[in-house]
Amino acid sequence: MVPSRFLSLSLGGRQAVRGRMSVSTMLLFSPRRLPRMEGGAVVILVTGASGNVGGEVIRAVLAAGYQVRGLSRHSAPGVPAGAEVARGDLNDRGSLRSAFAGVDAVFLLAGYPEVSGLLAEMRAAGVGRVVLLSSGAVAGGDLDNAVVRFNVVSEAAVRDSGLDWTVLRPSGFMSNTLQWIPQLRAGDVVREPFADVPIAMIDPYDIGAVAALALTSGAHNGQSYRLTGPKALHAANRAAILGAVLGRDLRLVAEPDDDARRAMGESMPDSMVDAFFQFFRRGGYDDSHVDGTAARLLGRPPRTFGDWVRAHAEAFR
Ligand SMILES: NC(=O)c1ccc[n+]([C@@H]2O[C@H](COP(=O)([O-])OP(=O)(O)OC[C@H]3O[C@@H](n4cnc5c(N)ncnc54)[C@H](OP(=O)(O)O)[C@@H]3O)[C@@H](O)[C@H]2O)c1
Repeated sequence: MVPSRFLSLSLGGRQAVRGRMSVSTMLLFSPRRLPRMEGGAVVILVTGASGNVGGEVIRAVLAAGYQVRGLSRHSAPGVPAGAEVARGDLNDRGSLRSAFAGVDAVFLLAGYPEVSGLLAEMRAAGVGRVVLLSSGAVAGGDLDNAVVRFNVVSEAAVRDSGLDWTVLRPSGFMSNTLQWIPQLRAGDVVREPFADVPIAMIDPYDIGAVAALALTSGAHNGQSYRLTGPKALHAANRAAILGAVLGRDLRLVAEPDDDARRAMGESMPDSMVDAFFQFFRRGGYDDSHVDGTAARLLGRPPRTFGDWVRAHAEAFR
């Protein structure tokens, strides 16, 4: 199912998308702690709370001793224990008012419509800080690419929101490997599109750890962080590591581009399929470069794909 944010994103002109900051907006960006973070109950709202990254953000923020509210459209979502659950839909601003009440900082997914209005609503509710989950694809990216565009639009809105902000630009997620589960139930062969493309995949655990730092401290205000894993891997490398942990002889088969385009088109709009082909077949996004920012911020190396597999092996059994 394709999130409707991919379908309903509307844009102004390119200049508006790039989001130049006004002087008055820049003055609001001086590093500071949120007043309520000095003491008392601090509430952090995490969107995407039932997802791979949101779940890790919640666990990291809870571990740091803060109160967490996880947003979901559903009543019984997979939001980690310890977080309060708030119902709401990012496509429907009116559904979010009670979720924002009493919140100090928000972890926000990119790409939803009317993001400036959403941010204004947060600010009116007393939210002081936002941490946006964007993508490494934005750097030098082509605004005609739908994935680049929805992330660029969200970043610009966050920078112009008047809230303290931090932008996270991760590489591809190790958790994308969970998409192999149906194939692995059927046998030991995994077919994967773009199998020849190396990606410095990151563990959502590390995104969650960085997000927790940015949500709970003023030290990261006004920063955009590129976050990657420790090593660029091909799909075949991932299959070998996963197979070794599971004790299975997995075989990776590169899915031909025509088949990949057809299969992707069954679950996402053409603009999104085109975006991935622009990234990986027309050189639009080199996601293989390893960046040291995550290690610098966390004070330890980012987790390896083997670490991720060991932490999630049960999901594949
Ligand atoms: N996968 C990658 O390699 C990659 C790389 C860079 C950036 N990203 C970005 O990272 C985001 C999060 O990825 P993930 O793997 O953590 O996601 P995920 O596991 O697929 O989960 C998606 C989350 O989005 C929430 N959601 C979907 N539509 C919503 C709506 N209309 N209103 C409120 N919440 C909504 C879902 O919440 P409920 O179903 O509980 O409502 C769910 O928690 C992606 O959406 C993508 O834009 C991904």
